[in-house]
Amino acid sequence: MTPGRAAPGELRVGLLGCGTVGAAVVRLLRTNGEEITRRTGRVLRIVRVAVAQPDKSRGIVFEPGVLTGQAADVVADPRVDCVAEVMGGVEPARTLLLDAIERGKSVVTANKQLIARHGPEVFAAAARAGVDLRLEASVGGGLPVIQPLKESLAANRVSELWGILNGTTNYILTKMAGEGWGFERALEDAQRRGFAEADPTEDVDGHDAAAKLAILATIAFHAPVRADDVYREGIRRITPQDIAFGRELGFAVKLLAIARDRDGRVEARVHPAFLPVGHPLAAIRDELNALFVRGDFAGEVMTVGRGAGGEPTASAVVADLIDIARNRAAGVHGRVGWGELAPRPVRPIEETASPFYLLMRVTDRPGVFARIASIFGEEGVSIASIVQKTRGHAADIIMVTHTTVETQMRRVLARLEQLDVLHSIRSTIRVVGDV
Ligand code: NDP
Ligand code: HSE
Repeated sequence: MTPGRAAPGELRVGLLGCGTVGAAVVRLLRTNGEEITRRTGRVLRIVRVAVAQPDKSRGIVFEPGVLTGQAADVVADPRVDCVAEVMGGVEPARTLLLDAIERGKSVVTANKQLIARHGPEVFAAAARAGVDLRLEASVGGGLPVIQPLKESLAANRVSELWGILNGTTNYILTKMAGEGWGFERALEDAQRRGFAEADPTEDVDGHDAAAKLAILATIAFHAPVRADDVYREGIRRITPQDIAFGRELGFAVKLLAIARDRDGRVEARVHPAFLPVGHPLAAIRDELNALFVRGDFAGEVMTVGRGAGGEPTASAVVADLIDIARNRAAGVHGRVGWGELAPRPVRPIEETASPFYLLMRVTDRPGVFARIASIFGEEGVSIASIVQKTRGHAADIIMVTHTTVETQMRRVLARLEQLDVLHSIRSTIRVVGDV
């Protein structure tokens, strides 16, 4: 074949990265490539692969000349029509993608951190160059969420998105609830099974979910939402005690990602939350992800699937490659980009409202509860339920409030901290839904 020219119907792919996701992309194409060609008439051929350490054993044999340690060579190779970036990290991934786009190559990326930080820049470059930029794998692994938002729900005004966008934390919380394990033990188990990274910060502190939510909110609300706009709390402080008390109250705990477009402002937050055990999201276990979208005409739409792991993510990467191959055959490019984004102010977390669960330990003597209740009353916070558990001379008080504005709750907490009978406020967790 002539270098620089693809065979008819062929898309020649340069893969940046061959780790968990990249290797699964190679395996998927080796397993299903012929079937994909039979169904679509397109041939997806990986012609170059860049890795950090080309000599590392990775259980995949490539033809001589395919594997390289120089990612820039893959981007510059005239035989590469389309670049699939599955290496992760913001740099050099950003520079490599921009270079590919400038060279007129369509690109696929699984990189949520890159898109959440530089999405508008990369999309603007793709629009200028008239190439396709696809990112289904960047949110929810194998879960189809981005194309459905852009295409199947395109006729709607989307007002709300909420769900579970991180598989690792959902696995950890499932194990804590099911086995009664503490956070550290459940994290070790997640690491042993290959869900959590050696440095679990991205997952357990909510950065990963915040980046994914920023991408979804940008697409759904047609407003630029950056990862830094997303309020974020992780799951490190959730204890088996919270989970047990929550269960007594009829709640399950999940790390939720919530975005709303309301009254001209965008609200975006990631934090642990109690849900009624009968809520569909309470049944989403292990590394599964799930997303609800509310459209003004479609109503509520829910998607569930495997949000992490090489194979589900490769399924999304290859679907994007197939779409690019189809567009190329049809002579269309740059279809369905970011679209026009209209900036909107972000609603600060202090102005959001929800019911709260509160667990505190206090001295157990007459009059203590009256003092606590009067603080709630004076700050205008309505109590929905109270449970007290005696612990020797102390007592654990578990309270759930009615819907309360965050600033009101913070005032209550600050005043409780001043009480001489308070030993500690052990946790506060937002509750989703009406109490
Ligand atoms: P891995 O760490 O398993 O793989 C990264 C790959 O990139 C490795 O092959 C590595 O080379 C290569 N690489 C790293 N730096 C460079 C560089 N400078 N030049 C060339 N190659 C480089 O990551 P994953 O496969 O898990 O993730 C890839 C992307 O997919 C990330 O953006 C991630 O967020 C996203 N993603 C991952 C999911 C998952 O479940 N794993 C799910 C959804 C998205 P070498 O092999 O030599 O070390
Ligand atoms: N680490 C992510 C998760 C998968 O646990 O969901 C990559 O987005």
